[in-house]
Amino acid sequence: MTYDNFDPDGQKIKLFTPGPVQVPDWILTELAKPNDTHRSNPYRELHALVRAKMQKLLHTHNDVFFWTNSGTGVMEACIWNLIGPDDKAIFFPCGAFGERWAKTAEQCGKGDNSVIVNVEWGKGVSAELVKKELSQDKYDVVFMTMNETSTGVMNPIWKIGPIVKEYGALLCVDSVSCMAGVDINVDAWGIDVALASTQKCFALPPGLAISSVSAAALEKAKTVPNRGNYFDFLDMLKKSQSNETPSTPAIPLLRALNTMLDYILDEEGPENRYKRHASMAKYIREWAVQQGFEIFSEEGYHSNTVVTIKNNLNLNTAKWVKKAIEHGYRFVDGYGDLKGKTFRIAAMGEISMNDVKEFLTLLMKLFDEVK
Ligand SMILES: Cc1ncc(COP(=O)(O)O)c(C=O)c1O
Repeated sequence: MTYDNFDPDGQKIKLFTPGPVQVPDWILTELAKPNDTHRSNPYRELHALVRAKMQKLLHTHNDVFFWTNSGTGVMEACIWNLIGPDDKAIFFPCGAFGERWAKTAEQCGKGDNSVIVNVEWGKGVSAELVKKELSQDKYDVVFMTMNETSTGVMNPIWKIGPIVKEYGALLCVDSVSCMAGVDINVDAWGIDVALASTQKCFALPPGLAISSVSAAALEKAKTVPNRGNYFDFLDMLKKSQSNETPSTPAIPLLRALNTMLDYILDEEGPENRYKRHASMAKYIREWAVQQGFEIFSEEGYHSNTVVTIKNNLNLNTAKWVKKAIEHGYRFVDGYGDLKGKTFRIAAMGEISMNDVKEFLTLLMKLFDEVK
């Protein structure tokens, strides 16, 4: 029994998974450094630095909160803080993660306040659909998945955000599987909450979630009763003002995020990072089509961080995944009901184009074994 991710030759398994992803050694080193407490000046300094760098990355003046949980926690936080007893929320699920968000509202007792507009899996949520729905009724909050990791769809938040603002609603965006892999213009697009977790395009281990939260969302939270404790935006705000969090934060992960943001902002450069992600995803899609596969996501809505590929060649995808692990690589089968019907290849974080080419060459070598 081992909990290290080593292949049979003792090499670290290379992760082409949609999170958690490969963590570079220089981040692992950063995580191992000693910490002061979270009620100390060194921590407050770190907190302030990371917030400023996140604001730069997301092009926002909004506050940024750091949560010691994965992204799901912040998705729930949006529900507790932004849907009041007399409010109406609208969800546009187009895959597993969007559906889960809508279900969470029901689980939090806000089902009667929610309208769910389901979009067929593989299709994107168009700006036209959002406009149509918002023009038919008055909504207070709109919930959108930017990058639907189950279907490999990326939704055009850059078009949807301004529409949501036109209708005077708040906009929460799950950008778990694309933040730091694609450009997100929080202020220009009118995003009230943009949330993500560290184990995807940030290439850090899991355990820390990040969200920008607008002044309008914070004002709204003041009017919503029963926001709970751990996920209360207003408690987060109060502590954020003194560069702290209400309870103990994941200090090593914040330290690692600080280092990663320095790398993204000052060394690789955000634009280069986004181009690298886009070109790796395009390369994977083109490779898949050359092999005779079809892409599951609709044209015009392809994700730049994860490619969901139809298994129209009827390969044994479970066996393929297993075989790849034996060679030191992990990718993933389809999500939920799409298991066996699709498979997914993600290129997030610090993966390079050369890594992608090496991995796809291996997948082709394994073809005959999984037919
Ligand atoms: C689009 C999307 N939303 C939400 C989540 C849940 O995030 P977490 O696992 O960080 O809670 C995931 C995880 O894969 C995701 O891909």
